[in-house]
Amino acid sequence: MRDDVVKAAEILTRWGVVALPTETVYGLAADARNEFAVKKIFELKGRPSFNPLIVHVKNLQMAEEIGVFSPLVRRLADVFWPGPLTVVVPLQQGAGICSLVTAGRKTIALRAPQHPLMQMVLNLTGLALAAPSANVSGSISPTTADHVRNGLLGVDFIVDGGATMSGIESTIVQVQEGDQGLYVLRPGPVTVEALEAASGVKVEALGQDEAAPLAPGALSKHYAPRARVRLEALDVCEGEGVLGFGEEQVETGVPFFNLSPSKDLLEAAQQLYAGLHWLDEQGIEGIAVRPVPHTGIGVAINDRLRRAAAED
Ligand code: TXA
Ligand code: MG
Repeated sequence: MRDDVVKAAEILTRWGVVALPTETVYGLAADARNEFAVKKIFELKGRPSFNPLIVHVKNLQMAEEIGVFSPLVRRLADVFWPGPLTVVVPLQQGAGICSLVTAGRKTIALRAPQHPLMQMVLNLTGLALAAPSANVSGSISPTTADHVRNGLLGVDFIVDGGATMSGIESTIVQVQEGDQGLYVLRPGPVTVEALEAASGVKVEALGQDEAAPLAPGALSKHYAPRARVRLEALDVCEGEGVLGFGEEQVETGVPFFNLSPSKDLLEAAQQLYAGLHWLDEQGIEGIAVRPVPHTGIGVAINDRLRRAAAED
């Protein structure tokens, strides 16, 4: 594994792109200050250029060289980093980050990831790494190296770190003027309750329409399998498989993936994309999704499922 990490670091310093595990999903990484490398990310993913990338850093100090941190943002970083929280902050003048990364905005999304392999690569290279999820734009995010291999062609190298822990992309937040409160632009593993407890300010989870201008990636159709997704489904229709939560089994002959037999929402989040990938491979026309409770990380699970089910 050490050899793979060294190889990944070498490729990244030579303008390459590498798929790396984080604690949330696999990312497709490149040097955030190298335009040639960042361009490759957009090309490989087929990502629209208006959608900015998250920059991954090894620690708060490196983050503050790139973004402007208010006292509240610094507090969030102290509590949740390294970990699955991304902060959107004003871009530091002269930070040298390519304008492609920020899609020309005056803000930047930053996060210090927790995964040991990702941390090793950040430490070895000393680079700030731009890394979106390592999937074709709009499709299901990868939580294993195989998902990356099967979904994204032309990646220079993949570091295989097994299945990811959280299974769902980082929570994205932005502070309001004067540190008065916090907006959640994308729900994720760090819940509204945890953010409120750590920050002591009001946390507002933005709906899709409010989030869209602030978070350009919050398009309605996203995380989508080929099969049609039907939410809150209590029955099974002809040609469908089932994405279950808690129940033991369905009729024989129906492809069935249980997100968590014990109704554990953390396990369900970890299994979500693996379940969608697997059901899609069964060649079914539709996926009947059983209800998932809308509490804790269930909010993020339901957000992804809603987008997977969106018409376009
Ligand atoms: O867990 C994660 O966040 C994963 C791993 C690889 O770190 N990354 C990830 O990246 O989910 P991506 O590109 O799939 O999603 C990044 C989201 C997009 O919705 C994008 O619009 C938003 O972050 N974003 C990036 N920069 C932003 C900015 N300056 N302002 C608002 N939203 C921003
Ligand atoms: Mg993504």
